[in-house]
Amino acid sequence: MVRKQQFIAFGFIISFVALGVAAMRMPQNQPRNLKVLPQDISDKALDSFMHSYNKALGVKCDFCHVAINNMPDSLNYASDVNPKKEQARKMMRLTIQLNKEYFYFDSTKRPEYLNVVVCITCHRGDPMPADLK
Ligand code: HEC
Ligand code: HEC
Repeated sequence: MVRKQQFIAFGFIISFVALGVAAMRMPQNQPRNLKVLPQDISDKALDSFMHSYNKALGVKCDFCHVAINNMPDSLNYASDVNPKKEQARKMMRLTIQLNKEYFYFDSTKRPEYLNVVVCITCHRGDPMPADLK
């Protein structure tokens, strides 16, 4: 009988731990404000895209993402207030289109993940490549 009670108590502990783990994972499963990148993109892949934009344009994250209460260290990534973000979306669509129509060499990859033509191909570390001499 005692063993059975212990077993039940153990079962409760396990369920609480499982609930706790599920709650910790919640924020990651929240819907994102993604209009170009795939909805099911992993955090790692999203991060790697964003860092490639920084490098390609020679900017920091706040070039496209608006600061919360003017605090440069905390950015509202989901917000579309900064017009550069929408400009970047146009550029992303352009890049995906180029890769899909002219360089779809790897048909096992989704076009969003093709990287034949990428931002740095044109930008070369500058936000305004047309002005480069
Ligand atoms: C050149 C512009 C640009 C730069 C620089 C940039 N981002 Fe983004 N970011 C975007 C765009 C555009 C989207 C939305 C993509 C979409 O709609 O599919 C986005 C989306 C995101 C999201 C998802 C937000 C959501 O909706 O939940 C995160 C997180 C993010 N960026 C983080 C970063 C970080 C961190 C950096 C710096 C390392 C960075 N970004 C640099 C343009 C940029
Ligand atoms: C085919 C060449 C090309 C590719 C590829 C490209 N861009 Fe651009 N981008 C340009 C040109 C040209 C401009 C116009 C600015 C100028 O006059 O130099 C521009 C402008 C922008 C601007 C506005 C800059 C500003 O200060 O107003 C952003 C933001 C941007 N690009 C982001 C991106 C991102 C992010 C990628 C990759 C997803 C990308 N671009 C890929 C050529 C390109």
